[in-house]
Amino acid sequence: MQKIKRIKSKKNKSKILCLTAYSKSFAEEIDKFADITLVGDSLGSVLYNYDTTRKVTLSHMIDHSRSVKLGIKKSLMVVDMPYKTYTTKSLALKNAKKIMKETKCDAVKLEGGKNIIKQVKHLIKNKIPVMGHLGLLPQTAKGKFKSKGKTLSEKKRLINDALLLQNNGVFAIVIECVRASTAKQITQILKIPTIGIGSSVHCDGQVLVTDDLIGLNNTKIKFVKKFINIKRYINLGLKKFSMEVKYKKYPSKKYSY
Ligand code: KIV
Repeated sequence: MQKIKRIKSKKNKSKILCLTAYSKSFAEEIDKFADITLVGDSLGSVLYNYDTTRKVTLSHMIDHSRSVKLGIKKSLMVVDMPYKTYTTKSLALKNAKKIMKETKCDAVKLEGGKNIIKQVKHLIKNKIPVMGHLGLLPQTAKGKFKSKGKTLSEKKRLINDALLLQNNGVFAIVIECVRASTAKQITQILKIPTIGIGSSVHCDGQVLVTDDLIGLNNTKIKFVKKFINIKRYINLGLKKFSMEVKYKKYPSKKYSY
């Protein structure tokens, strides 16, 4: 709860950093920078090549989260509840409890607003911290991914959903691919932080898929900025290893018994 309080207290003071991790080694590095480490169900496309996050299961999420937990010292760890694992109040609670117990994470994230409010309320009543997710919802999006909050009715719906989630106790909301002016308005109206992804600098924080921002993925999405081409460094290391093996330089005496 201390960690959640700290995240909430950053609103209007300093930006909140959220990054995805799917394993211990990544989590160790991410934890040095992030306020929130998210085990996102994006792992379905990033690690398993799935064409949709709908194929991600509870066991995927639990296995990867247990590895991530080993690398975390200070950040708040949030785990995505996969598609169809929170269709009813009782199913949501059963699965959220399993995630919390088996991964020792701090909170879960669910996609949706009014349509899942019963589940959100039920989790919070049972002391399970919840992070919301509005705008583009990959688990239920149909067809091509499009930005949200462009029309007046969409804008109104997003604002109402955000207020509903806040008033029922979620501690922060991810706002994905929402038009800048709408994201700004939601951020100004809410007392809890918004974490944007492709939704402008007006949000209280930002989240990205780590593999995308370091260039491990060849994602071509408008909001993804490649901050480094990590593949270059991986290739360099692998090339050095293969050359030294080929020319019998490795393992030298120093590295042999
Ligand atoms: O699945 C995920 O990684 C996410 C973030 C990109 C917000 O939900």
